[in-house]
Amino acid sequence: MKFKKALLEEWMRDYYFETDYDIGSSGVENYSMTDLYELTGLRREDLDAVVFHDSMTLGGDAARQALADRFAGGDVSRVMVTHGSTEANFLINAGLLEAGDEVLVLDPFYQQLYAVAEALGCRLKRWPMRWEDGFQPRMEDLDDLLTPDTKMVVVNFPHNPTGATIAADEQAELIRRCDQVGAYLVWDGAFSELVYDTPMLPEPPLVYERALSMGTFSKAYGLPGLRVGWCIAAPEVLEKFVRLRDYTLLHLSPLVELIFQKALEAGDVLVGKRLEQARGNRALLDGWIRAHSDFIEWALPAGGVTGFPRFKNGLDVEAFCHRLAQEKRVLLVPGSCFGFPEHARLGFGGSTAELEAGLDAIASLLG
Ligand SMILES: Cc1ncc(COP(=O)(O)O)c(C=O)c1O
Repeated sequence: MKFKKALLEEWMRDYYFETDYDIGSSGVENYSMTDLYELTGLRREDLDAVVFHDSMTLGGDAARQALADRFAGGDVSRVMVTHGSTEANFLINAGLLEAGDEVLVLDPFYQQLYAVAEALGCRLKRWPMRWEDGFQPRMEDLDDLLTPDTKMVVVNFPHNPTGATIAADEQAELIRRCDQVGAYLVWDGAFSELVYDTPMLPEPPLVYERALSMGTFSKAYGLPGLRVGWCIAAPEVLEKFVRLRDYTLLHLSPLVELIFQKALEAGDVLVGKRLEQARGNRALLDGWIRAHSDFIEWALPAGGVTGFPRFKNGLDVEAFCHRLAQEKRVLLVPGSCFGFPEHARLGFGGSTAELEAGLDAIASLLG
């Protein structure tokens, strides 16, 4: 397998630790261990009692039960705990695809969601999300794009980087269309719980046997450093991943699984706090963009904590993002990491003070 450079990760490696104001990431303000003691039922004695046994391949019983209760109607046989959703994505691609398979992916898209298939030698087709449509994908595009040759469709709603999402009836139509051609539907739900005006969309694997969904603690839960995520799929599909995992990570740490379980059980509290913060930041950012319409415009994100604004006046956005990081210590991600060079990914999930400092820096260089 030949992997291309992961452009976003390269950018983060260069600047994530070298900047003070992060308005480029797709996460929320992160929680500390102290926060977890306060907000979940976790106690210090629980951690002291952990014995570092191996855990089970699909995840320890308590962790899987908490996961199934929150997302899979309690059905433990359909859930797997993973080392971030990055691992889930890798298992899905390596476990279900072969060279030559046709895979339909969104454009723009988080690179890992298509690059593993590409490295396996699959043929990629792209479902465009257009600026002129506010990045809303057109269902009618699927008339030509989805065929009996389509092995897998990979989507992510709410979407990184645009914040666009689809309506519940469109999700149902997408599932119906995948069923018609017998394609797998891979649903990256990294931002599922971060929605502003509509309820969270249902989990596709609960209604379609060839659907798989991924989730993560790295976004809405504010725990990216815990490195934990999940996959929901039919038990026979998860069985294939068990065989693959024997050659990669074997299982997670019981320590991580305990924190995962407790944080999931307190999920409404953890996610609720950050969703409210992001809602306020989104309004603030919308006002700021309107006030600076001489150099920037955007489509208001319906979910997630990133937007994908377009800079005007022929600005070299990548050069500008380098300058912003080096001169102002502000992290913004150039749209070139997603193949859209006039845009940048602007994250509003962090603290309001950090967002304001980052926006002031942009205005001081462009205003
Ligand atoms: C859309 C999307 N999916 C998956 C991931 C991977 O997350 P993790 O491996 O931290 O769970 C990210 C991280 O940025 C993402 O933006």
